[in-house]
Amino acid sequence: MEITPLHDEFAAQVSGCSLLDVVCDAAAYRQVREAFETHSVLVFRDQSITDEVQALFSRAFGPLELTKVGSVGAGTVYAHITNIGPDGQTVAPDDRLAKVVAANQLWHTDSSFKRLPALASMLGARIMPASGGETQFVSTRAAWRRLSDADRLALGDLVVEHSYAYSRERIDTTILTAAEREQLPAVRRRLTWLNPVNGERSLYLASHAGAVPSLPREQARALLAGLTDHATVPTSVYRHFWRQGDAVLWDNRATMHRGIPWPIVEPRHSIRTTISATAADGLASVLAD
Ligand SMILES: [Fe+2]
Repeated sequence: MEITPLHDEFAAQVSGCSLLDVVCDAAAYRQVREAFETHSVLVFRDQSITDEVQALFSRAFGPLELTKVGSVGAGTVYAHITNIGPDGQTVAPDDRLAKVVAANQLWHTDSSFKRLPALASMLGARIMPASGGETQFVSTRAAWRRLSDADRLALGDLVVEHSYAYSRERIDTTILTAAEREQLPAVRRRLTWLNPVNGERSLYLASHAGAVPSLPREQARALLAGLTDHATVPTSVYRHFWRQGDAVLWDNRATMHRGIPWPIVEPRHSIRTTISATAADGLASVLAD
């Protein structure tokens, strides 16, 4: 197995190891897990990915989330990130699905708004457009390190409110379904997540973060926007150009990502499996409810 860094701050490509090797071989899993804790984003190329292989691989890292109400794939372990409608055709730009795609183009970390946040996500490419549609990543561990000592001292334990409504309403106030509004109340998280394996702290930020209970609304939004800008400076971005057979695993505790637009008339379909965080992943450091 070879681990090749893809960026100065984080992200690496794993070669000489298939997704199934990680499922079948405990030593391979240990090596990949170690690389995941260190590099935060792992890229696997030229994989024979089926939904089942992706789920088996993901399950090696922890329990899988069920996809939330209102999503394509709701109630299963597969979240379909797609602009293909139920009739098999790409949706119109004003379709709800197109707006959900647009919301994925805000910097975020997956599931920060859920009662149980996510350790990691794996995205497997199924259908990719000829151009555009890349995914950008940043390390919020590196962003934490780049803050001044005074900022780190002031911010480490700050409590932030995350809500699915905050991120969706930035795109369109009509995207949220009644079921989403009812089943996804806002949750409180600390602004940092401490990795218990290596003692590294990271900023826990997302488009879903929209309020700070101890601050007036405008001041909170300005603080969160400023931190997001700090975390996402262009030199800190790893941009993943998708190829058929790619699978990318990322640490939701220590990264943010966003989708890049593509011509919406071109179909794009990828499948995400999401691994819930457990006590062993430092969950207690971030919960503030
Ligand atoms: Fe995402």
